[in-house]
Amino acid sequence: MNPVPPLPARSALITGAARRIGAALAEDLAAQGYCLHLHAHTSGALLEQVAEDLRTRHGVRVRTHLADLADVTAVRRLVHDLTEDPHPPALVINNASEFLGHYDRAECTDIDTVARTLMVNTAVPIALSGVAARGGNGHVVNITDAHTDLTCASHLPYDVSKAALTDATARLAVLLAPSVRVNAVAPALVLPPPGAGEAELHEMAGRAPLLRSAPLADIVAAVRFLTATGSVTGQTIMIDSGAHLVWDSESDLRPQPVPPHPDPAA
Ligand SMILES: NC(=O)c1ccc[n+]([C@@H]2O[C@H](COP(=O)([O-])OP(=O)(O)OC[C@H]3O[C@@H](n4cnc5c(N)ncnc54)[C@H](OP(=O)(O)O)[C@@H]3O)[C@@H](O)[C@H]2O)c1
Repeated sequence: MNPVPPLPARSALITGAARRIGAALAEDLAAQGYCLHLHAHTSGALLEQVAEDLRTRHGVRVRTHLADLADVTAVRRLVHDLTEDPHPPALVINNASEFLGHYDRAECTDIDTVARTLMVNTAVPIALSGVAARGGNGHVVNITDAHTDLTCASHLPYDVSKAALTDATARLAVLLAPSVRVNAVAPALVLPPPGAGEAELHEMAGRAPLLRSAPLADIVAAVRFLTATGSVTGQTIMIDSGAHLVWDSESDLRPQPVPPHPDPAA
């Protein structure tokens, strides 16, 4: 009997893979034997270390890509490099995210900030979905955010960008079916946001129904579930200890009192 040829390695792209959630997802996919395309922007040196470590420990092929996802030319080059690769990704994990922390009132409406945030967090994930669609049997997982339904004004560009990505997830699931599934994982309370520490994360987690932060391993498990479950598309799984169920609107950019109109009769 002829030996059964080995299955070709599945190939995956993770954007923003040098650190934090992206690096944890890269570790898990490498452990499953995926051939990896790992992307970073400013963390190129760290990404090379992550890639080399995964090659050594898991024996997988890892190709690294550097791109500012706010730069259309760089995104076009990335798409070209991915589609021309002998192992183009059938699994695309849109994880990279532009998040400036708390935006002040001027930043929230600054065209550069708004355009950059929407480009990285919404436009590029939509464009990269097309890469998964090239080979058939593709899967896109958008990493969104469980916190974006709220009218928390100081995150406006980020929240709008992630809410739009959640909306795009369902639309793309219809548009790209049946050859590509499109799902989302919406974290909150996983890692402290930039500028915050563990204490702030624990304080916020104490207001969630489950009274705890969400472990990184749960994000990894959710992506594994979605990847392994071929009948699920257009879904968003919230990994947030139930926080979205109880968080109130917490606008910290409340309307300022408006000075009274001068009385024309006076
Ligand atoms: N951490 C949480 O608790 C939490 C909560 C809610 C949602 N999320 C979502 O989960 C995902 C991962 O979270 P995280 O906290 O691990 O993310 P993060 O550290 O805020 O960002 C991930 C990566 O995005 C990349 N990135 C930022 N701007 C970029 C640009 N212009 N071009 C290319 N790459 C860019 C950065 O790459 P370089 O370092 O290479 O520059 C960064 O390492 C994000 O989509 C985030 O919105 C996380």
